[in-house]
Amino acid sequence: MIVFDKVGFSYGTNQVLRDMSFSIDVNEKVAILGGSGEGKTTILKLIVGLIRPDSGKIIIDGEDITNKTEYELRDIRLKFSIVFQEGALFDSLNVKENVAFCLREYNKISEEEIDKKVRDLLRIVGVEEAIELMPEELSGGMHRRVSIARSLAASKPKMFLYDEPTSGLDPINADNICRLILELSKNGTGFIIVTHKVFDAMKVAERYMFLKDGMLLFDGDKEGLVHTNINEIQSFIEEVRFKYEPK
Ligand SMILES: Nc1ncnc2c1ncn2[C@@H]1O[C@H](COP(=O)(O)OP(=O)(O)OP(=O)(O)O)[C@@H](O)[C@H]1O
Ligand SMILES: [Mg+2]
Repeated sequence: MIVFDKVGFSYGTNQVLRDMSFSIDVNEKVAILGGSGEGKTTILKLIVGLIRPDSGKIIIDGEDITNKTEYELRDIRLKFSIVFQEGALFDSLNVKENVAFCLREYNKISEEEIDKKVRDLLRIVGVEEAIELMPEELSGGMHRRVSIARSLAASKPKMFLYDEPTSGLDPINADNICRLILELSKNGTGFIIVTHKVFDAMKVAERYMFLKDGMLLFDGDKEGLVHTNINEIQSFIEEVRFKYEPK
């Protein structure tokens, strides 16, 4: 369980989050929506303790992480598999070494085991054939898949955190990444997808949170989101309103 209890966060004088409170269970399928710069990435960084709140508390599985040391945060971070917005792979390492990097970091295992594990992970995300390629040789969709494989290598997560996993991808690749996200959550591992692409979020999430001016303007299900009378959200989802057909 992730609990934000009146969390405030600023970058200098730029107040990004104001007294934000919510609880998310690790097996939920959540989309955090909002325009550019509204603080979506900031929330993910706070969850894994990459940045700390100025006020309020963040509690993960009953543990207050607000003042934990870097060392103590290690265990918290292992609960999550985070795929960053940039999906940054190491340019100078091939796909295999990019994925293996996290395996070497966290485990003492033989080269043979590493090779097997990397292949397994690449198979899961559907890019086993790219194992010897360099990042620059990958398409956008493959790049995103390798980033997901790498994050899977880092931990056996209780929850996935995806930051704009479909941005910059053509509709077919974006759709494939959505399928992968659902596939990876089939065993009950939840996720938070942070995105401004509402249509992609609607393919995967069950709970929707909409961020505006540092506050949660909406927190509810798909029906509630689609039929909201909040103006800001209406205009935000206008592009998908007519494409969406309730079941
Ligand atoms: N390292 C940083 N230093 C200073 N300001 C930052 C930093 N990172 C983000 N910000 C600012 O904090 C605010 C929230 O940023 P954040 O990255 O969380 O937004 P976002 O909702 O993820 O946006 P996007 O959709 O563009 O990714 C923005 O105004 C941004 O300019
Ligand atoms: Mg962002």
